[in-house]
Parts: sequence; C-alpha cells; structure tokens
Amino acid sequence: MSTTPVQPAPGTLVFYSDFDDFDTWKHALQAQLPGLRVVRANEIGDPREVDFALVWKPPAGFFRAMTNLKLIVNLGAGVDSLAARDDLPAHVPITRISDPNMARMMASYVLFATLRHAREIPHFEAAQRRGEWAYRHPRNPGDIRVAVLGLGELGALAASELQRQGLTVLGWSRSPREIEGVQCHAGMDALDGVLGQADILVIMLPLTADTHHLLDRARLEKLPHGAAVVNVARGAIVDQAALTALLQSGQIGAATLDVFEKEPLPSGDPLWSMPNVLITPHLASVAIPASAAQQIAANLRRVANGESLTSRVDLQRGY
Ligand code: GLV
Repeated sequence: MSTTPVQPAPGTLVFYSDFDDFDTWKHALQAQLPGLRVVRANEIGDPREVDFALVWKPPAGFFRAMTNLKLIVNLGAGVDSLAARDDLPAHVPITRISDPNMARMMASYVLFATLRHAREIPHFEAAQRRGEWAYRHPRNPGDIRVAVLGLGELGALAASELQRQGLTVLGWSRSPREIEGVQCHAGMDALDGVLGQADILVIMLPLTADTHHLLDRARLEKLPHGAAVVNVARGAIVDQAALTALLQSGQIGAATLDVFEKEPLPSGDPLWSMPNVLITPHLASVAIPASAAQQIAANLRRVANGESLTSRVDLQRGY
C-alpha cells in the first residue's frame, strides 16, 4: 500500500484588523497555504501556539505572550503604527505588504486627485452648485508641475503614471532615484527648490522621526501661491494646523486629504467645512487579499525554510 507523505502544517497565523474582513483574508491565505490555521485574536487559546501575525494596528500588548512568533506581517504599506510599540518580541522579523495591485490602487487615487486639481474640477463643481456656466480654458498639462514627495514602491508608480498624462512631474526622495520621464531630486537640500515649483504637491513619504512635520508652515509657504496639496501618506507628515491656516488664507488653494494627524478627523475640525478641501477617510489604497496573500504566503514559506524575506521592514529606519 502506497502512503502519501504528510505535508507538515505551516502553523498558526493570528489576524487582527478593525478595517479588513477576517473571512476574506483567511480564505485568501488558505488558498495559498491549505495547512495554515488562521485565527482571530480572541480565538487564540495559548498565545505560544502563534507562529505568524498578520496585523493592522493591533492593541497595546498584543504580541506580549506570543513567545514563539516567527514573523509579523503588517497588513498595509506604512509601518509607523508598529514603530513606537514596546511589545514587539526582539528579533522577530517584520514585513509589510508589497503588492503591485496595491500600488495601482494608490496610483489611481493620486491620478484622480491630481487631475481633479489640474483640470480645475472644484471650480466647476462650485459653479454648478450656483447654476453657473463658468468657462475656464484648460491649461496645457505640460505647464502644470506636480511634485511627488516619496519615491518608494507606491510613489514611484504614481509619479510614472502622472508623467504619462503629460504633466511635468518632479520627484523628491531621501536618496537618489531614477524614474523615466520624472525629474528626480534627492536630499534635504533639494526639498525647498522642489516645493517652490509644485503647482500640485503629492505627499507619499513614510512617516518616520525624520518626516514628522516635515511640511511645517515654513515649507508649506514655499509652495507657489494657490498650489494644491494631496496627502495620501500620513497626516503627521504635515503640520495640519499650518495647512488649515494656509488653506483658509488662500495661500494654498486646495487640498485633497486622505490622512490626518488624528483619525477619524474629529467632528468640528475646520477642514470638514472648507469648500476647497476634499476629505476621504484613509482609503486611498488598501491591501488586496487575493494578490497580497501570495506575497505573504511566499514569506511564510521562506520563514519555514530559513530563507531571507522580501519586503522586510527596518523599524530603526522606520520603513
Ligand atoms: C495604509 O495607509 C497603508 O499604510 O497601507
């Protein structure tokens, strides 16, 4: 009688997110790794049984008793919410989602928001509410300068897609990058020069100690009068009070904001009622189970085989 070799179960993965659907993720992961046990945090039983964690903003102390953890997967691109914790087991690697579909979703939001400003759609929306036929001749796309701050996986694709629209695209990053058709600049010394040319500023940086309030009042004032700001990264990269004041005075003409210093944006915040501000509730891009599960499963296999991981996060660096 022939015997089928038994595949060892890959282990137990705990899932935590207030924003993502457990069953969808469980099925997507098990489609890749049929032996994987996927549980919610309240179903764990003995925390020492947990091998892997797939988490978005888990509560304080979440990891404390998980002494056999082998991998933490951040259920998103930005890892700033993990950086300040004191319950992360030492030496357990952390990876983040890196998924071309997530980058595409982000690029589509950035395209929408940037083109909305480039085509002056807010002007027509306001005119329509007044019942006015308010003709404004469209500007030549090449005359509109868009600066993308942050040229990581998400920023690089967005910059590339923007230049495909014929806009003049400047990129800025900490270390030098090259993107076809994009005028790339690097380092703090180059930042003010880039801001000074940005008719539309798109913020796509990770939030780290270095980028916290990077766009303070003085830097926001470098933008040309009436510039538009699009923030799809993290609210705290911008001094929100300064941004609000500059939007109120018209020095900054408009903003599309998906992220805020405090989320949800508190009711009564002046940004809610400003006609030149479009607010969306932090969803410019989200992790997509069907495709991201493949990347996560590949890393789980690498952990099991002692191989090096992809999309590993360096919490010292902050991304
Ligand atoms: C969302 O903000 C993410 O970092 O994935």
